Amino acid sequence: MIVGIDKIAFFTSPYYIDMTDLANARGEDPNKYLIGIGQQKQSVIPPTQDVVTLAANAADEILDEADKQAIDMVIFGTESGIDQSKSAAIYVQSLLGIGKSARSFEIKQACYGATAGIQMAFDHVTQHPKSKVLVLAADIARYGLNTPGEVTQGGGAVAMLITAQPDILALDGQSAFYSDDIMDFWRPAYRREALVDGHYSTDVYIDFFNRTWNQYQAQTNRHLDDFKAIAFHLPFTKMGLKALRSVVHDHPSAVGLLEQFEFSRQYNALVGNLYTGSLYLSLLSLLANSDDLKPGDRIGLFSYGSGAQGEFYSGKIIADLQSQKLAEPVNHLLNNRIKLTISEYEKMYQQGLPMNGRDYEFDITKDHNRFVLAGRKANRRLYKDTKNRI
Ligand code: HMG
Repeated sequence: MIVGIDKIAFFTSPYYIDMTDLANARGEDPNKYLIGIGQQKQSVIPPTQDVVTLAANAADEILDEADKQAIDMVIFGTESGIDQSKSAAIYVQSLLGIGKSARSFEIKQACYGATAGIQMAFDHVTQHPKSKVLVLAADIARYGLNTPGEVTQGGGAVAMLITAQPDILALDGQSAFYSDDIMDFWRPAYRREALVDGHYSTDVYIDFFNRTWNQYQAQTNRHLDDFKAIAFHLPFTKMGLKALRSVVHDHPSAVGLLEQFEFSRQYNALVGNLYTGSLYLSLLSLLANSDDLKPGDRIGLFSYGSGAQGEFYSGKIIADLQSQKLAEPVNHLLNNRIKLTISEYEKMYQQGLPMNGRDYEFDITKDHNRFVLAGRKANRRLYKDTKNRI
């Protein structure tokens, strides 16, 4: 039986900043951000969107009523959780009207959470072929204004439906993973911004990629020429390029893999880091934009979550992949965003629910998305479905 990704959707904020503007404001050469880091634009998330609404808005694009009844597991990968106890998955399940006979929970391991979710979903559907599992990956990447990490911020959500006989990617079911206790990036519970040892984190990422890739090759006897493309977790798009270069060297497959990599970073360069969702936005970017994917082509996926966990796994393109259908909603979203000046971004960046728990109401009239965060009352977050007026 084939199990894999049947549907995939992406959502981000309607606001962005341009990396040339940010470089100019920070006294850097724009080419450092555009070429050295590989980012062109960065999503800026308004206070009326959080990981719950980002994920609900993404999943809303792909789920029909039959899906909502068939889903028996909702897995939410995030490191931007909105509660220390209650999972973001329960909120999304309720907002979308997904049936209540479901397991619904959140997974955390930095940017890796959604990959754990996909592997769990794969095992579950393999055992229960009629099941459908909704895997959500949503985050808001924050390092702070005027920090070296600022150019690698961003945010958004990817929603994926894992089923038997999928329409997009059939997972191979083999994967290689590696973990170690490493302080490259972390966010203590009292902070809104991450702490990071930036250069060390990039070295660890490459080390974990090499380890898991070598382990995967030893396990499967598959090598570079068995792959049409490799999609990477992309905290910034140059990171994936560095990792790919570390294994392709002058291998005959190098040119093809480097060409496909360019398709896989198109969307990420316009959005920035969305932590758990980053690898899956890159996969979507590849599927939507590549001019050369054929049924049966094998795609590698490298997932990395600081702290640190790495995993390399793979899947094959399904016969009637409809690239245009995948590209249209993302292009529409990204082409219709509002550009903020750097001072408008700095103001928006500092907005949010007060940290002291007091009641608060946001002005939601400017947020035209279906699901919005309206504020907080009596320590309860107030979500609104503007379509159904609840
Ligand atoms: P930095 O120190 O400001 O940048 O911070 P740099 O000096 O290293 O320069 C960056 C690149 O730009 C270099 O290229 C320069 O040569 C080049 P490289 O040598 O690396 O190939 N450059 C130029 N290129 C063209 N024209 C120019 C120019 N000037 C310089 N004029 C850093 C960079 C990434 C460290 C920083 O932004 C940071 O700390 N970011 C956050 C951490 C991060 O994203 N780490 C990635 C790996 S860890 C990970 O992926 C997990 C994560 O997603 C979290 C999670 O798991 O939850 C972060």
